[in-house]
Amino acid sequence: MEIPVKSWYDAIFLRHSQRRYSGEVPDDEVTARIEKVCNDFRPFSGARAVLVRNPSKDVFKGAVGELFYKVKETPYYIAFIGDMDAPNVQTITGYLGEGVILEATALGLNTCWVGGFYRREPVMEQVSLKDGERVLGITPIGYSKKETDRVGVSSKQYRRKNLDKLVLSGDVDDKKWVRTALEAVRIAPSAANRQPWRFKIDRDAITVSANSKREGFNVSRKLDCGIAMLHLELGARVEGMSGDWKFLVYPDVAIHKIK
Ligand SMILES: Cc1cc2nc3c(=O)[nH]c(=O)nc-3n(C[C@H](O)[C@H](O)[C@H](O)COP(=O)(O)O)c2cc1C
Repeated sequence: MEIPVKSWYDAIFLRHSQRRYSGEVPDDEVTARIEKVCNDFRPFSGARAVLVRNPSKDVFKGAVGELFYKVKETPYYIAFIGDMDAPNVQTITGYLGEGVILEATALGLNTCWVGGFYRREPVMEQVSLKDGERVLGITPIGYSKKETDRVGVSSKQYRRKNLDKLVLSGDVDDKKWVRTALEAVRIAPSAANRQPWRFKIDRDAITVSANSKREGFNVSRKLDCGIAMLHLELGARVEGMSGDWKFLVYPDVAIHKIK
């Protein structure tokens, strides 16, 4: 599937995590488009997304804690599944999942990545996994309970690090595409908003690295970095700069080289 660059790029600025849903079921056309992106967006082999209708009530039970709120009344959820034998499985699942989330956002649907804090047993009953596969994250999907939290009407303030804390080397303002790409990453979602991504800017390339090898919140930083990769690529492409990804040795994650 070709990435719809403009609509996903625009969706970056509309997306926010939503945990309370109205229960309203998306209409057939919207549902079909979500089903289609789940089936067709397979940028790397080894990661896939599955739409689950009629979620078991237990899936989001227990998703509580200081930073985590119970997800309520979602009509659907999507499971992001990785083949644990595939290279870079966490990273490619983050990239794939964020594509599905941005398409949902573009369709006016609310979402929320949920990494560690959901019940695995009911998900296992609803999603059939092949040998070696694991569900690495899920997202509720539907319409926010509060009208003011719906996609497109949110006045969300982002709590994010400034770029000078994220860029390890190189000049953000050397080229327009570099700033656009990094501004698009800056507001990407990450587990507990930890923003683990760091960047090295070269002449025609940006390297994405993780800030630590330590894991936490039951979610790999590599998954967060996969999300960042898609945002970075969309920012570059919206400025007319297409590139290729090459995976690197952790804690470096991947380098995006402009063609
Ligand atoms: C991989 C991943 C896992 C997450 N897991 C949870 C979770 O278990 N529970 C939750 O309430 N939010 C979770 N979040 C949402 C983050 O807390 C949220 O993205 C972050 O605070 C930034 O806020 P925003 O998405 O509204 O911009 C997760 C986000 C990511 C990317």
